[in-house]
Amino acid sequence: MVPPAATASAPVQPIGTPEAPAIKEPVKDTILTPRFYTTDFEAMAAMDLRPNEAELEAICEEFRKDYNRHHFVRNEEFEGAADKLDPETRKVFVEFLEQSCTSEFSGFLLYKELSRRIKEKNPLLAECFAHMARDEARHAGFLNKAMSDFGLQLDLGFLTANKAYTYFKPAYIFYATYLSEKIGYWRYIAIYRHLEKNPDSKIFPIFNFFENWCQDENRHGDFFDALMKAVPSTVTGFTAKLWCRFFLLAVFATMYVRDVARKEFYEALGLDARAYDKYVIAKTNETSARVFPVVLDVENPRFWDRLERLVSNNQALQEAEDSGAPAPIKALRKLPYWGANALEMAKLFLMAPIASNRFQPAVR
Ligand SMILES: [Fe+2]
Ligand SMILES: [Fe+2]
Repeated sequence: MVPPAATASAPVQPIGTPEAPAIKEPVKDTILTPRFYTTDFEAMAAMDLRPNEAELEAICEEFRKDYNRHHFVRNEEFEGAADKLDPETRKVFVEFLEQSCTSEFSGFLLYKELSRRIKEKNPLLAECFAHMARDEARHAGFLNKAMSDFGLQLDLGFLTANKAYTYFKPAYIFYATYLSEKIGYWRYIAIYRHLEKNPDSKIFPIFNFFENWCQDENRHGDFFDALMKAVPSTVTGFTAKLWCRFFLLAVFATMYVRDVARKEFYEALGLDARAYDKYVIAKTNETSARVFPVVLDVENPRFWDRLERLVSNNQALQEAEDSGAPAPIKALRKLPYWGANALEMAKLFLMAPIASNRFQPAVR
């Protein structure tokens, strides 16, 4: 679900073997690492879906078909594939696997908990969440298995018990998960299509699985689209517009800063991180116009200039973090960059959005 993320300094300890993988310590939480969410289960259970029940029922029927039931089966291509990577590529690739696995697992936990807690009162919604939890568990498991090819494994039980959970009220869960599913779709399909044209850059067989995989994410996104339409207050009115802008910006800015910070991973695939992100952001923005009342003006060059300022502030913050200075000195050095980031985010937020009915009149 949540777009894969990585801190540039994620520690990698390739000390295990594929037969006996070492448990990988989770990376330190930062604003850029994937989050775990919790919500108001009572409010979710009490949701009246009648305004869009037929579409939700149709989506649930799609989930029941379980198109990818037999998709995530490892083949002989994986044998020895990990050994072919040079140390630098290996490092960035393992970070990618770890962060993707954490994101998928975070989706699994949220959907699983939702389906469990609302089962009695809202069976249709509960069933949809259960199917999505099934998909995310598969995705996370497949990524974790790939990590074991590098002698590492994420301790998902430890993560469940020790990660901090962010509380979001249901509407915010809808915005955040809708966006992460749709952005996940565009991220996976963009990599898949690129590697289809450039097979020499396919550094690991896991990318062969991305085409069907991203269809799961697309269906999950469609589910949240239908859910928001079932609860029209989430996508109509002044406040909803502000929140949609906020979540679009938060998701796009986080991804851009994170991906540029680990551009080596994209280089290993023959991709330019900035160009890749611009494509993914433009596509996700366009898709979001089908349900959000407003989207961002990502054609505006100032949007990208400001994201670049966030990138350079973030680099300065990382340098301060790595400086080895005592904590108070570090904080003092970071202060101006935190301030600069807040200011850039405020400016980005205040940029005029585009009304979705102007953006895609045919769809709406
Ligand atoms: Fe998903
Ligand atoms: Fe997923």
